[in-house]
Amino acid sequence: MTLRVGVVGGGQLARMMIAPAVELGVELRVLAEDDGMSAALAATAVGDYRDADTVVRFARDVDVVTFDHEHVPQDVLGALVDAGIAVRPGPHALRFAQDKLHMRRRLDELGMPQPDWAAVSDAAGIEAFLAEHGGRAVVKTPRGGYDGKGVRVVSSAHEADDWFTALAEDGRGGELLIEELVPFIRELAQQVARRPSGEVRAYPLVETVQRDGVCAEVLAPAQRTGEREQQVTSEIAVGIAEGLDVSGMLAVELFETADRVLVNELAMRPHNSGHWTQDGAVTSQFEQHLRAVLDLPLGDSSPKATWTVMINILGGPAEGGLVERFGDAMARHPEAKVHTYGKSPRPGRKVGHVNVSGDDLDDVAYAARAAAAVFVD
Ligand SMILES: Nc1ncnc2c1ncn2[C@@H]1O[C@H](COP(=O)(O)OP(=O)(O)O)[C@@H](O)[C@H]1O
Ligand SMILES: [Mg+2]
Repeated sequence: MTLRVGVVGGGQLARMMIAPAVELGVELRVLAEDDGMSAALAATAVGDYRDADTVVRFARDVDVVTFDHEHVPQDVLGALVDAGIAVRPGPHALRFAQDKLHMRRRLDELGMPQPDWAAVSDAAGIEAFLAEHGGRAVVKTPRGGYDGKGVRVVSSAHEADDWFTALAEDGRGGELLIEELVPFIRELAQQVARRPSGEVRAYPLVETVQRDGVCAEVLAPAQRTGEREQQVTSEIAVGIAEGLDVSGMLAVELFETADRVLVNELAMRPHNSGHWTQDGAVTSQFEQHLRAVLDLPLGDSSPKATWTVMINILGGPAEGGLVERFGDAMARHPEAKVHTYGKSPRPGRKVGHVNVSGDDLDDVAYAARAAAAVFVD
C-alpha cells in the first residue's frame, strides 16, 4: 500500500514537503500553476487551481488533498468534497484563513484576544474608526494579501479609496478590514499541528521579524519567554485549531504588547515562521503537515538545539543564481543549512533561507545572518 498526498500549489512550501515525503515513502503529487515552479520536482500536473474540473481530476487517486497556499476558491473546495475526496484542512476551516474579516468575526466568537477591528465599506467608516483610535489605523484587504501586500497604515479617510474601487469592480461586496495600529514590542508565531482524529502538538513559541511586511528572521524559541507565556500562546493556537476544526499545520501570528498577546492572522499550512524546524526540531513542520493530513500519529515537536535562527534570503544575487554562491557560502559557513526554492532572484522575493543552530544566540544569529548575506547583493 502506498500513501498518496496531493498538494495544490507548486511554491516553496510544496517543494519542502518533497524531502520528508521521500523519506517516509509517501507519494507526493503536486498541481503546479506553471512549469518551472519551486515544486517542479514533484509536479505531476500543471493547471489552474481555480478550475474545479482541473483540481478534481488531479485529486482523483490521492488519499488526501492539501495546500501550498490558501487561494483555492470555496466552490473548487466544495467540488472536491462532493467528489468524495478528503480535503485537509477542510473548506469550513480554510475559509477563516482565506478571509481576514471572517477570521476576525470567528475569533471574537471564540473569545480570542485581538486588536480592535471593524469592517468598513467606505471612507466615512475609516474616518469614524480613526477618530476613535488616535488618528492612525491599519487597513487590510480581507482576501488575497500576502507579504504585506494588502496591508496599509492610514491616517486619513481616503487613503484606501483605490481598494474600495477595486472591491466594487470585483462584485464581491466592498468591505475592508480596519484594525487599531498595535504598538507591539515584537511579533511572535505559535504553530500547532492537529490531526482529524484530534491529536494536537504545539511547537515552541518563536519570534518573527518582519521588514517591509515580509518575514526576514525567525528566532526559535522566542527570547525571554517564560513558561507562562508559552502556555498562553499554545492555548490560543490549540483553541483556534480545535475551534475552527483545522487539520494539518496551523500558524498563529501574534503581536506581543506590554501586557498581552493579540492574534494578528492565521495560516493553515506550513509557514515561514516554522522553517527553522527543518534543522532545529525533532519533526519538521513539513513532515508534521504530511503526518497530520494523513491522520498519522504526530511527531515530537521539541527543539533539538538551544537556539535555531532562520534568515530568509530575500532578493538574491543581482546576477546569476544562488548556486553560483554555494562555494563561498559553504566554505565560509559550514554550520549553515542552506535551503533554496528554485526561483529566479528578484528584488524582495523569498528565494531561500538559512538555518543555524547552537547554544549561544548571538553566535547563532551572527552566523545565520552572515551565511544568508553571501547570497544577497
Ligand atoms: N493591526 C496592526 N498593527 C500594527 N502592525 C500591523 C497590524 N497588522 C499588520 N501589521 C504589520 O504588517 C505585517 C503584515 O500584516 P498581516 O496582516 O500579517 O499581512 P500578510 O497577510 O501580508 O502577512 C504584520 O506582520 C505586522 O508587521
Ligand atoms: Mg502575516
